Amino acid sequence: MATDLVIRNVRIIDGTGGPSRSGDVAVEGDRIAEVGDVGGVGRADASTTTIDGQGLCLAPGFVDVHTHDDGALIRHPGMEFKLAQGCTSVVIGNCGFSAAPARVGEYDASGLLGVRPTWSDLEGFAAAVAEVRPAVNAVALIGHNSIRNLVMGNERRDPTDAELAEMRQHVARAMAQGACGFSTGLIYEPGRYSGTDEVIELARESAAAGGLYASHIRNEGDRLLEAIDEAILIGAEAGLPVQISHHKAAGRRNWGKVGQSLARVDEANAAGADITLDVYPYTAGSGPMAQYFDIERIDPELASVIRFASCPAFREYEGRMAVDVAAEQGVEVADVIRQVLTAPDGDKTICIQFMIDEADVATNLRHPLMMVGSDGVVDLRGKPHPRLFGTFPRVLGHYVRDEAVLTLEEAIRRMTELSARRFGLVDRGLIAEGRFADLVLFDPDVVIDTATYDDPKQEPVGIEAVIVNGALAYRSGTHTGVGAGRMLRYQPAG
Ligand code: CU
Ligand code: ZN
Repeated sequence: MATDLVIRNVRIIDGTGGPSRSGDVAVEGDRIAEVGDVGGVGRADASTTTIDGQGLCLAPGFVDVHTHDDGALIRHPGMEFKLAQGCTSVVIGNCGFSAAPARVGEYDASGLLGVRPTWSDLEGFAAAVAEVRPAVNAVALIGHNSIRNLVMGNERRDPTDAELAEMRQHVARAMAQGACGFSTGLIYEPGRYSGTDEVIELARESAAAGGLYASHIRNEGDRLLEAIDEAILIGAEAGLPVQISHHKAAGRRNWGKVGQSLARVDEANAAGADITLDVYPYTAGSGPMAQYFDIERIDPELASVIRFASCPAFREYEGRMAVDVAAEQGVEVADVIRQVLTAPDGDKTICIQFMIDEADVATNLRHPLMMVGSDGVVDLRGKPHPRLFGTFPRVLGHYVRDEAVLTLEEAIRRMTELSARRFGLVDRGLIAEGRFADLVLFDPDVVIDTATYDDPKQEPVGIEAVIVNGALAYRSGTHTGVGAGRMLRYQPAG
């Protein structure tokens, strides 16, 4: 068999975190066939594609460990916003919201996924995804909010024994169908109505299948440390690894607290726990606005940092700060929030909240167990948070090259090997013979995000080529449309 693709004379950053070296990488079929010295690999013939890697870096394809791409895989199978960043795999079903299980024909209650299910379980969802031939690979978490909604609606109470048993079955079934774990979003409805015991019971089903527990913890602000403790407790009681999602300290009075919560994580790990984390490299969050406000008591501090991303009720507000809209109308900012939330379709508003300290982002990125996850919300009609398009190049360009917060090799490790191992992406995350050929070729001197809050739907620069399962999916700014991504089945790290 001749080599299908060879990248020559490139700086190989293999994902281990070790020093990079120059060499060639040859691909046959969907696998890396050879990694070797310059000019030393490949059996090239007329059918071989050769890429000159002079001056460029080759890394394993990036794994976006925190996404809400469940519906996007079907709505936007080209996944351009991910592929152009160098992402070759995404973890879906985060923050307790997953596209499966579902009731056929019923949109997810969160408004995050934006897809009408033709499936009822993960197997059906995976088949629907495979049919549209997505550009990137995906592995699924099973979401607590989704199953709770399915079994008991938006009820503000504990489940009955029968309901708990039914929820447990949903988790067990998804795990059997290839999910990598169980996720919660304990600030959201209906997850916020659950007690710790309920979560432990459900996490046990993930543990039984060797899966993990990924959590948008119950509080990321005034009670951040208590919420970290709860996640640690759930991991200990249910007996499984924990992923703290988009770790942050929200709200000015809590800035700096991430140092304390990371210390708690380190302490727990030293005592035998298995906790890892992820972060997005921005000082603003984003999500469904209705979930962040109590309509009877609009929090003025939060209202003052809100920007509208997608606002079906008032499209003219998209891309604007609520305070600016309020000033223009001569009303209080709380009135603007109330006006939006009480309008028809107001509950479908996606907002952006500027609530994170820049120094905390750097503190997070310095931590050796910190992965990178975009947390992008895929509503392309408005002005989405720029993290949807810019996360990975922003870490490489801004935090590695410009700010020297971490080395390039270490950043790559935490975008690839660490993430692939954690989320059970078998044979991915490393450049080594026999591994899947998920690769990204980039220019380390140029790579940077270009998406901004004002102009968020911009692809980054400096990503030269992206290869998914051996197929060239992106080259010099062009999406090839090859659709080589796969739904992956989780396998616990051995
Ligand atoms: Cu999220
Ligand atoms: Zn979240």
